[in-house]
Amino acid sequence: MSEPRLIYLPKILDDRGNLTFVEEEKHFPFKINRVYWIYDVPGGEFSSSHAFRENEELIAALSGSFDVVLHDSTREYRFSLNRSYNGVYVPKMVWRKMENFSTNSLALILASTSYDENDYIRDYDTFLKEVSQ
Ligand code: TYD
Repeated sequence: MSEPRLIYLPKILDDRGNLTFVEEEKHFPFKINRVYWIYDVPGGEFSSSHAFRENEELIAALSGSFDVVLHDSTREYRFSLNRSYNGVYVPKMVWRKMENFSTNSLALILASTSYDENDYIRDYDTFLKEVSQ
């Protein structure tokens, strides 16, 4: 199974403003089916916890900062995102939580599947059961 990891995306430095880009299957190991972003989060807020059965994601802090906390049932990974050129790769079947959003933060999420509520595991015991199968 692939592991969660911090990805350093290309960064083009320019006095007029920096530029970062991503290419699917080159900088992260999946094809994009969906893009969503989380914004207007009150400072200090956190997301609900869940895992995806099939969906994989790349999460980036385009603005501000927040933490991505992951658990694969063996170990915990904590990534503090505060640079626009970093992304966290979240494989399928990893328990995931985002927390400590700064005021005016903007999270961009590239996802490998279309939205499907049935792909969510929202109960931690169910996650532990399914991940050990
Ligand atoms: P959800 O992923 O459940 O966020 P959280 O677990 O932090 O509450 O999404 C919140 C709502 O948005 C949920 O009702 C489903 C809807 N939603 C979509 O319709 N499409 C999407 O791509 C996403 C991510 C969410």
